[in-house]
This record gives sequence, structure tokens and C-alpha cells, in this order.
Amino acid sequence: MKRILVTGGAGYIGSHTTLELLDAGYDVVVADNLSRGHRSAVEPARLREVDILDTPGLVRVMQEQPVDAVIHFAAYIAVGESMKDPGLYFRNNVSGSISLVNAMQEAGVRNIVFSSTAAVYGMPAVVPIPESLPYAPINVYGETKVMVEKVLDWFGQTQGLRSVCLRYFNASGADPAARAGEDHEPETHLIPLLFQAIETGTPATLFGNDYPTPDGSCIRDYIHVSDLARAHIGAVEWLMTGGVSRRFNVGTGAGYSVQEVVDAVARVVGKPVPHTWGPRREGDPATLVADSSSLRNELGWAPRDSALDRIVETAWRWYNR
Ligand SMILES: NC(=O)c1ccc[n+]([C@@H]2O[C@H](COP(=O)([O-])OP(=O)(O)OC[C@H]3O[C@@H](n4cnc5c(N)ncnc54)[C@H](O)[C@@H]3O)[C@@H](O)[C@H]2O)c1
Repeated sequence: MKRILVTGGAGYIGSHTTLELLDAGYDVVVADNLSRGHRSAVEPARLREVDILDTPGLVRVMQEQPVDAVIHFAAYIAVGESMKDPGLYFRNNVSGSISLVNAMQEAGVRNIVFSSTAAVYGMPAVVPIPESLPYAPINVYGETKVMVEKVLDWFGQTQGLRSVCLRYFNASGADPAARAGEDHEPETHLIPLLFQAIETGTPATLFGNDYPTPDGSCIRDYIHVSDLARAHIGAVEWLMTGGVSRRFNVGTGAGYSVQEVVDAVARVVGKPVPHTWGPRREGDPATLVADSSSLRNELGWAPRDSALDRIVETAWRWYNR
């Protein structure tokens, strides 16, 4: 049985990917320091409480239970926080990833799937966004992901490390069986914020309804977290069967506007969503939609759960667990 080390497996996307890996017959070890994740999101026997900055600690984890590949989610993820405290983000996301790669080298592990992001493209000139666009991050968070992609590339060229970087768009939804879901603190993602607004009656503030889009609100590519998790399995299998290093977008190619998401939440929950429109947020492009034809054609991946109402239904089921 192949064994995968999942860093950040106590977090949102990592916990869903762990479930999908187990469902697909893999053994999984999770490395997480629980700084932003939840102990309850991981079976106790799988969890190794270790900081990815602790290189010897990671080597021990990989020597105790040898792994065939690493899927690397562990990072801080809030754009606003990254602009207030860049040092925190460069250290955790970049130094942490370098520590992980060094530990992999020492333990003889050569395959890594890395959580990258649409933020590496900044304000893209071409939509749907192809992977060939140059790096153009406009915030520290996006820059940390660019830096790690480059580190992985150089370790590939010089040390034989093989990597797939998956550039996710808007991860959303929850495990359809409600075994896991989204629980960030503080929450910055749209769908859970709209649920909170319904629950508390305090209106959610939405940023900008004067964009050059059909209804004036921003359009984003919402990808169901279980579809995202399955893309990781495809990527790890690609590497373990000799595939070369690649960078793939993971999105559906079909964008929904913020207003359409508000409408879907109201429809699924059966209640109006209290909300107000504030000014645009700096650095928010009008439309971010992925061209994920490479992932579809080369890994045979296709989204199954990413219809908007399906995303909202699964998220709502988890929210009410
Ligand atoms: N959520 C999204 O929409 C989205 C979009 C694009 C990319 N990503 C990337 O996907 C990954 C996972 O995102 P998420 O939404 O699941 O985030 P999350 O915060 O829910 O999970 C991150 C996990 O990493 C752990 N972690 C952080 N720093 C660590 C460290 N130094 N050592 C050990 N563990 C550490 C946290 O405790 C947490 O469990 C991140 O790398 C993020 O940048 C997320």
C-alpha cells in the first residue's frame, strides 16, 4: 500500500484530501502543528504534531513510516494578514517549505504535490487564465507561493525532486457525507460568511458591485473541495508513475458572481441573506476563472461536485452538523 505524508492535513483542504486518499486505498500520515487546523479533523493515530519548520522532526516522521510522496498544504492563507505581517508569511510558507524539501531529501522522498494558488497570476490579462501566464503576484501571500514554486523547480533541476504545483481557485463546499468541512478562524471565505450572516442576522459586507461584469459583482471560479482533493490524487499518481514536474490550474472554468452565490445560498437555505455592498477591495480583479484544460487532458480529471447549488448544499449540511 502506498503511503502519503499530508502536511496541513488538519486544515480545510488537507482534511478532505486525507479522506479521499483513504477512500482510494492509500495510507496517510498527517503532519500539522495545529496552528490553524483542528485536532478533530484528523484521526488521532494518523496525526504527527510537528511544525514544518522543524526539519529533523519531519525527517523522523518520514523515517518512522516511509512515504512514497508528500502533499504539502501547510501554510498561512490570509491575503490581508500577509500584507500586515509579511515576515510571518515568508517564514511559515517559504522557509517552512524549504525545511520540508530538505527533510524529504534527507529521507529520500522525491515526489511532492504543492498547494499553489491563482494568486500567483495577480491581475491576469487573459481570462480564462492559462498556466503559461507569467508570475505577477500583487500580495505577499501570492509571492510566497511563487517563491515555493521556484524553489521546487530548482530542486527539480539540481536534485531530482519531482513536483506538481496545483494552482487552486476558490475552494468551497464540504465533504458530501459531512465528515469534514470548512472552519477557518477568522473566516474570510464567502459561503461560510453568508451562512454566518443568516445565522446572526448581522449583514455580510460584500466588496464592490460596480465591476464590469453582468451584475457588477466579482466573478470567481468555485471548485468543490472534494473535486480539488481528487485532483491531488491524480497529481500524486502522476508523479508516482514517472510523470514529469508540472504546474496545473484547478478550477471548473465556469465562474459565478458574488451575487449569484448570494442567490444560491438564499435558495438552498430557504432564507434571505442579510448583506450590504461596500466599496471594492484593493487588488480584487473583476474576474478570475481558470483554464484547467491541461489538468483535464493530461490527468483525466473532471469536476463532479462543483455545480454551485451542490457546493452550497454540502457546505450548509456541514455548517449544521
Ligand atoms: N482555501 C482556498 O480557497 C485556497 C486557495 C488557494 C490555495 N490554497 C492553499 O491550500 C492550502 C490549504 O488551505 P486551507 O484552506 O486548507 O488552509 P487551512 O488554514 O485550513 O489549513 C492549513 C493547515 O496547515 C497547518 N499549518 C500551517 N502552518 C504550519 C506549520 N508551520 N507547520 C505545520 N502545520 C502548519 C495549519 O495548522 C492548518 O491545519 C494552503 O497552502 C493554501 O495556501 C487554499
